Amino acid sequence: MNPTDLLEQAWAARRQAYAPYSNFGVGAALLTRDGRVFTGCNVENATYGLTVCAERTAVCKAVSEGCRDFAAIAVVSETGATPCGACRQVLTEFGVDQVIVAGSTGEPRIYTLAELFPYAFDSRQLT
Ligand code: THU
Repeated sequence: MNPTDLLEQAWAARRQAYAPYSNFGVGAALLTRDGRVFTGCNVENATYGLTVCAERTAVCKAVSEGCRDFAAIAVVSETGATPCGACRQVLTEFGVDQVIVAGSTGEPRIYTLAELFPYAFDSRQLT
């Protein structure tokens, strides 16, 4: 699947964003190595702190369906925001080759997780 198609699915997922507090909708589309796509949106909470980001929604959907091998994730928002630190950590757990980020204007940017999150804490540091 090409980045444009994955971004399209992320934009569709963003329409489901539950963001009454920030009014900042985010959509994600996570592509597995075997070609499946799991989408996610941010789900806010009145406590604020219990908010779940779009990326982590998508990862939890995929893992709970038995998928753990990821090729790419597309993340979209009005401003083209890059994934937050918590989402970078969660993506690091499983790995993903490309993080494709787009806003409502401008060209999509493609990053590696190593670029976005160098020196990550991972399971190797537990032994
Ligand atoms: N948000 C995401 O969904 N993903 C990120 O990587 C950064 C932030 C959401 C959380 C919250 O609902 C809104 O954006 C504003 O922070």
